[in-house]
Amino acid sequence: SIDTVTTETVGLPEFPMTRGCPYHPPAGYEELRREGPLARVRLYDGRVAWVVTGYEETRRLLVDPRLSSDRTRPDFPVLVPRMAAAKLTALVGMDPPEHDIQRRMLIPSFTVKRVNSLRPAIRRVVGEKIDALLADGRTTADLVPEFALPVPSTVICELLGVPYSDHDFFEQQTSRMVQATSTAQEASDASAALVGYFRELIAAKEAKPGEGLLDELIVERLATGQLERLELASIAMFLLVAGHETTANMIGLSVLTLLEHPEQLAELRSDPGVASGAVEELLRFLSVADELQRVAAADIEIGGVVVKEGDGVYLPNAAANRSPHVFTDPDTLDVRRGTRHHLAFGYGVHQCIGQNLARAELEIALHELATRIPTLRLTEPLDALGVKPGGSVQGVFRLPVTW
Ligand code: HEM
Repeated sequence: SIDTVTTETVGLPEFPMTRGCPYHPPAGYEELRREGPLARVRLYDGRVAWVVTGYEETRRLLVDPRLSSDRTRPDFPVLVPRMAAAKLTALVGMDPPEHDIQRRMLIPSFTVKRVNSLRPAIRRVVGEKIDALLADGRTTADLVPEFALPVPSTVICELLGVPYSDHDFFEQQTSRMVQATSTAQEASDASAALVGYFRELIAAKEAKPGEGLLDELIVERLATGQLERLELASIAMFLLVAGHETTANMIGLSVLTLLEHPEQLAELRSDPGVASGAVEELLRFLSVADELQRVAAADIEIGGVVVKEGDGVYLPNAAANRSPHVFTDPDTLDVRRGTRHHLAFGYGVHQCIGQNLARAELEIALHELATRIPTLRLTEPLDALGVKPGGSVQGVFRLPVTW
């Protein structure tokens, strides 16, 4: 009866949770952890769902085929209103075997070798952005629009073969689509605008082929009938969004975090060998793509509870990545920790396709900024910068600095 449901949900913590400090998980995660590896929460629409805070349980569940990513399922949980409308139908929102077909088409474009061939382009873009900061005797900037965002945005455009001159349009639509505060209508309008943009771009490229992953997919998969036009447009949209939104937040938040931990920044500046380890540690520590979402497609017994078929399950990797059983002193940032096995890129069949690319961008961006602008510092206190609400990729809206 309704009464029982009300009684059951009363007192349950609300989810998603918002961070107090942009580089630490929400305090509420520790309370959930005390309940055990899985805890119950209440979503904005009143629905009860599971949140997994245990590291082992997160890994086991992320490879369990009984947990579904299929966002077209009517029982898929809705984290924030915008997600009710803008359903992700490519890759991350699909289950095998359909998912694996799309994924296999993309994997060759994101290998370490392929990413290494992009390094000169990444170095060039990073160099240009830093040159622009240092030009004309300037001494202040907001690093979000001037560095954190344009670096990954330019790189994903080059990789896909999307004209960077359209970046104002797609950055704006992306932000309308992914911001936790967007309404369902705003998010679905933005997603439709982006898919429409890609349908036109695909048609233009069919008429006049160019260079890039999108052009390759047109020749090898669209022309051969392996992909439909709408499917290709959705994949392209997802790659564009996933390729710049997460990495941009990660660059911005990493810079902020390093500025707040000057001794760690000094390590990075003094020893180029530290860069790749520092990136792994920042990925673990910041876990910007928190809140992986699934629905149980069958009953699953795990961690002393039974997750029932149809239950929503959230796997916040920011909780798993601060597990004291796996990481010593997990709340301390230590760029020399030798971080491994973090879950910031997920785990299992959906593990991030762009992880090698993201690592290369982060390594180059952070190292170049640290060495070329050694006197970099914030011009406002951390508290004044605000935090992004739960239910979105974590990061900062602005990063006012001087040097
Ligand atoms: C999937 C994080 C950068 C493309 C994922 C997932 C996470 C993640 C956690 C798994 C989602 C799930 O299991 O539900 C990140 C972070 C990034 C980043 C933290 C930056 C620091 C990128 C880049 C690309 C990309 C640069 C390039 C296009 C993808 C794709 C998937 C994915 C295509 C879906 C894979 C699948 O479903 O098989 N990412 N990502 N990501 N990411 Fe990333």
